[in-house]
Amino acid sequence: MSTTVVAIDGPAGAGKSSVAKALALKLGFTHVNTGSLYRAVAYALRCAGASLDPVDKAELAKITLEYTDSGLLLNGVDPGEALRSPECASGASCVAKQPIVREFLLEVQRRSALNRWIVMEGRDIGTVIFPDAMVKIFLTASAYERARRRMEQGEIPSGATLEEVQKEIEKRDLQDSTRAVAPLKAAPDAVIVDSSSLSLEETIETIARIVEQKRCTRG
Ligand code: DC
Repeated sequence: MSTTVVAIDGPAGAGKSSVAKALALKLGFTHVNTGSLYRAVAYALRCAGASLDPVDKAELAKITLEYTDSGLLLNGVDPGEALRSPECASGASCVAKQPIVREFLLEVQRRSALNRWIVMEGRDIGTVIFPDAMVKIFLTASAYERARRRMEQGEIPSGATLEEVQKEIEKRDLQDSTRAVAPLKAAPDAVIVDSSSLSLEETIETIARIVEQKRCTRG
């Protein structure tokens, strides 16, 4: 068992990032957001003028990614807010479908957990990256609730209705869970946490209790 990893997987919009960040702070663990790694690969390739589809192995080999206690370093530098742009989000989605990129990032993710406690969030942490994680959480929420939260946070194009956003989310869920490479699914031994009717604080508390129980039973 990988005794130092809390894996949090789940669909976009379920609140993984806010929960993982706050949970890591509460427990004194390092927070690793693996979506940033896919975004960083897309960003570095774009900056180098290299192809995103297909990704070239030699171009990929030029990229160095490292998780330090203060965050991600891309080629030795903190990429900061650059990774949050819509271009990086679409580039990340494009490179994430390619096995060559997933293999490259598998090593980066496993290395980031060496000699420290981490809360790692993503889509395939409990199924592929750390199938032996100490705790596996699959954090989800209804498509309606995720659409409602996105609208509340102003993350959608103006004029879109709640029903349209919900339909889009359902379509993306279906694509993500049926794609050939690393489909989004809960590990058989994951605890499913549905945050539809929970506040952020309640969700963090629920998961923190699961982690503490696990640590106690390990002795
Ligand atoms: O969570 P995010 O929006 O930052 O993720 C960016 C992209 O990377 C998104 O298309 C999903 C993908 N991703 C993935 O395939 N596997 C992960 N472990 C994390 C993210």
